[in-house]
Amino acid sequence: EKGGYDHFMLKEIYEQPRSIGDCMRGRIYPLEGKVKLGGIKEYTEKFKNAHRIIIVACGTSWHAGLVGEYLIEEYARIPVEVEYASEFRYRNPIITENDIVIAISQSGETADTMAAIEMAKAKGATIFGICNVVGSSIPRLSDAGIYTHAGPEIGVASTKAFTAQVTALTLMAFYMAEKKGTIAQTKLIALLSELERIPSLVERALQSDGLIREISEKFKDSRNALFLGRGSGFPVALEGALKLKEISYIHAEGYPAAEMKHGPIALIDEQMPVIVIATKNSSYEKVISNIQEVKARKGVVIAIVTEGDTEVVRMADYSIEIPSADEAFLPLLATIPLQLLSYHIAVLRGCNVDQPRNLAKSVTVE
Ligand code: F6R
Repeated sequence: EKGGYDHFMLKEIYEQPRSIGDCMRGRIYPLEGKVKLGGIKEYTEKFKNAHRIIIVACGTSWHAGLVGEYLIEEYARIPVEVEYASEFRYRNPIITENDIVIAISQSGETADTMAAIEMAKAKGATIFGICNVVGSSIPRLSDAGIYTHAGPEIGVASTKAFTAQVTALTLMAFYMAEKKGTIAQTKLIALLSELERIPSLVERALQSDGLIREISEKFKDSRNALFLGRGSGFPVALEGALKLKEISYIHAEGYPAAEMKHGPIALIDEQMPVIVIATKNSSYEKVISNIQEVKARKGVVIAIVTEGDTEVVRMADYSIEIPSADEAFLPLLATIPLQLLSYHIAVLRGCNVDQPRNLAKSVTVE
């Protein structure tokens, strides 16, 4: 049932070209410049008039929510707040009937996320669910929503469910942008045509697996790791750090690259790997300065770069390429090498990657 792979996690990492494709199937129409989301169609007016979107989730799903914040604000121009469900529910937050709450959950059973939904619902907000498990509790509690269609995820560490959540949020952002008229038709057509090609670009990103395994050998005994990114690369850094700590038990932190000098820079030494999302997008030059700051302190840099990059490659100790794509799709591509890096490091350390200690697949207690 692991389909020839050593672990479910690896199988699920490799399934991503398909699972991302399944999430978009029947939903995007690049030639017409249209996104069709049957699940939220009836609520189109609600989205158009929403004063604010509040995204609630836990763990990896919360990271997907942060990516959603970038996408929805950038394209649909609706203010977004992303909340840990467990904090939100106990805070007496200000919620009105003009707010939309998007709850993101792979399992659809996470206790804190469910409680956050119930509270927001009682205050009159409209609730949308982005869930993977069909027929689970969160879709039933929600007014409407969309399924991610990633298929069953067995590995406790979320991989394909995360990229499917990000895909679903991308679709929602484009959908709202089109309805609100905050995106030019030509731009939307270009983005949707590129989105359609993302599964094949993810396939290409997976080809760095051998190189990533070699890099993992060098860092398997690390005690700490720092992940840095800017823009939507920041949630990718957070997700990379979470993946590494949960399956390899190496202490890892994700930071916005510019925040490094406000504290974590003190940790840099010749041992600790600093993994930097340094792809060619709007923050490229800024990230290059951050890499220089690390190198000036003799830090070790593993850079995630755009295919063909030479500038970062010259500075970094190790570089892993991902295909070039519009910045909107950076999280879908940059996540892949980070998943493989934690997987190989954990395997080399002899960890049980599919069932890490102390963790459960769905957290139904608060
Ligand atoms: C991390 C992980 C957890 C879950 C979190 C939320 O790999 O799997 O952090 O993301 O427990 O679970 P769901 O998405 O089922 O609500």
